[in-house]
Amino acid sequence: MYKGHARAYTNIALIKYWGKADQELILPMNNSLSLTLDAFYTETSVTFSSEYTEDQFYLDQQLQDQKATAKVSRFLDLIRNKAQSQLFAKVDSQNFVPTAAGLASSASGLAALAGAASAALGLSLDERELSRLARRGSGSASRSVYGGFAEWQKGNSDETSYAVPIASDDFEADLSMVFVVVNDHQKDVSSRDGMQRTVETSAFYDGWLATVPQDLEKARAAIQGKDFQALGEVTEASALKMHGTTLAAVPPFTYWSAESMRVMNLVRQFRNEGLACYFTMDAGPNVKILVERKNEAALVAKLTEHFAADQLITAHAGPGIKIQTKEVEA
Ligand code: ADP
Ligand code: DP6
Repeated sequence: MYKGHARAYTNIALIKYWGKADQELILPMNNSLSLTLDAFYTETSVTFSSEYTEDQFYLDQQLQDQKATAKVSRFLDLIRNKAQSQLFAKVDSQNFVPTAAGLASSASGLAALAGAASAALGLSLDERELSRLARRGSGSASRSVYGGFAEWQKGNSDETSYAVPIASDDFEADLSMVFVVVNDHQKDVSSRDGMQRTVETSAFYDGWLATVPQDLEKARAAIQGKDFQALGEVTEASALKMHGTTLAAVPPFTYWSAESMRVMNLVRQFRNEGLACYFTMDAGPNVKILVERKNEAALVAKLTEHFAADQLITAHAGPGIKIQTKEVEA
């Protein structure tokens, strides 16, 4: 029998994905654009065997409960269907990223699971097929198939919704992202529930959707032109607009804490002091700051005056998914 193994890195969206047009297929309402990072990743191994009588899911060496395992099983069913297999699986995954804390464990976790499980059943998927499959686990995972910049094209069907890499002449190598971890506990409102509530009830949702195409255009042009300021400005604007939609949801909610606001204000203050840096946030209170690599040390020095060293994690552009298959004893 075969063991599939994959390592996938997280990505952080510069232009956010927020809202689904199809919950079942995970088709998004808008395209999104991301940077894959080297600091956080997931390693997952999967074996399928006729000896197993149920799926087993270990995360960080802990056997997971029924609910978490059922989620993985539903995803494995997609792969079993594709491979025409009825075998159960053992999934062994290690997150080198806090789980469900708004640090994108679902992106690396589901991309790694897609890669490892499809390899274990002998499916050799190309990048597009792998991106489509990872998307079914978690939308943002579709982008973690690629290193550097990627754009998830929303499409309008299972076949047409996948991420593609963005040619950048290595611009990503000039960038750093500094994570300010103000809280690494599991969040109250998952991105899945938060975006659904927003699509269904927020009076601001249409406003969000209306400006995404021009923001994407600006981001693509900034990458082509290696224009850090333009990329930073549109990144920050996209995050603020996404988070704005949650305030008008019913019931309203926010991922911001007082500490998140403090970090955002500091970023604005650093800019006024002449240091070009821009923030983004996801479905949790932690703030990620985009800065040119040449200014990374200056940013970290300023942040160190306000935060403990272990709250600051610096990331650079990371590689695409790596998949291996090896034969193991049954
Ligand atoms: P995050 O901000 O960390 O992405 P989400 O709430 O969006 O948080 O997603 C977290 C969920 O992703 C977990 O509850 C779990 O279902 C899934 N997940 C995270 N890591 C893994 C993994 N290594 N393998 C499979 N599923 C994972
Ligand atoms: C705010 O990909 O975690 O991080 O598709 O329901 O699994 P599901 O959601 P998920 O949402 C990510 C939302 C975001 C923005 C982004 O990554 O684009």
